[in-house]
Amino acid sequence: MKEKDFQVDTKTDFQQFIDRRGTDSIKWARYAGRDVIPLWIADMDFTSPKAVADAICRRAAHGIFGYGRPPESLVNLFVQRMERLYNWKVSPEWIIWLPGLVTGINLACRAVGKEGDMVLTTTPVYPPFLSAPGFSRRRLATVEMHIEDDRWKMDFDRLEQAAAQDTSLFLLCNPHNPTGRMFTAEELQELARICTRHDLVICSDEIHCDLILDPGRKHLPTACLGKEVAKRTITLMAPSKTFNIPGLGCSMAIISDPELRRRFKAAMAGIVPDVNIMGFVAAEAAFKDTSAWLAELLSYLRANHDLVFDKIDRLPEISMQPVEATYLAWIDLRRTGLADPVKFLEKAGVGLSDGKDFGSPGFVRLNFGCHRNLLEKALERMTCALEGRER
Ligand SMILES: Cc1ncc(COP(=O)(O)O)c(C=O)c1O
Repeated sequence: MKEKDFQVDTKTDFQQFIDRRGTDSIKWARYAGRDVIPLWIADMDFTSPKAVADAICRRAAHGIFGYGRPPESLVNLFVQRMERLYNWKVSPEWIIWLPGLVTGINLACRAVGKEGDMVLTTTPVYPPFLSAPGFSRRRLATVEMHIEDDRWKMDFDRLEQAAAQDTSLFLLCNPHNPTGRMFTAEELQELARICTRHDLVICSDEIHCDLILDPGRKHLPTACLGKEVAKRTITLMAPSKTFNIPGLGCSMAIISDPELRRRFKAAMAGIVPDVNIMGFVAAEAAFKDTSAWLAELLSYLRANHDLVFDKIDRLPEISMQPVEATYLAWIDLRRTGLADPVKFLEKAGVGLSDGKDFGSPGFVRLNFGCHRNLLEKALERMTCALEGRER
């Protein structure tokens, strides 16, 4: 691939191709020196809002980088944001700042129930959901999702049966990585009823909550489903996916129940470091005044999504469902009979995430948070390889 292939006008950040090779990016380093377009890990190829970089430069100019704490202005901004977006009244003491959201998933597993308990989730799912229970000496129970009306759905009957075992925690991903589902209020209520009936805590990973592709829909935090649900919910959020600052490590758990919060904090003791001071600075700038940037990002992502969807729809033996939220497309290649779809597509010059890691072999996940020219090229390569292969 050559840089000139992707250089177009520079009207907005989203239309400017930025070469990330040689920048210690995990996403781009995987295929360094090879002609493979990296569309795997959930990290976008766009610059963050300029306000974020400006704030970091201002802080860096101070020149002293001692231990920090969450700025009151950031806490207030986040509290106001929750109220404005979701009518959710978050008390500042409910917020626990974390250096990563995966840390929060693992802490939830350690804080809830006891060793040997079951932690329940649905598959496919973001891989740390599958490893966290074992790391925390819990057992993992999974229930497969299925497609109904061209949408990935949870199987509530099977979830009810699984919840009735020695289960103490449900790990929810909403919006859902990798299927791109944004569960409806009815689906979330049904799940919450099951968790309440069987006294499960819900750990709700809402890291993708701002990346809603359908302009007519709004994210609904699980904790906003009602008082009873709020009490049993650990909400995990972060500005990292939305504003493309995952390398700055600033996330939060929001826990309204004092006892659950105490247990979560006890699980952190002596192990979880403070958030990096630049993470706080970036989070504050990202939450402050970036709605125009976000609107532009979403419109770019929608067009990228449509491109992926149209291409995949035309390919034989391959399918995907429309993505409601996230910049991730979940593609089913099982009918192709390919033994290793990721290897096959890598050979064709496209690097994707392997469905196996999400509990669903035969699928791949494609990150369309990238420059459109790059995406077009990747889709072209996939089309050529899949149409041209021997059957
Ligand atoms: C659902 C979900 N949770 C958590 C993370 C990662 O969070 P962090 O990098 O803050 O640990 C990701 C990243 O892709 C994700 O998709």
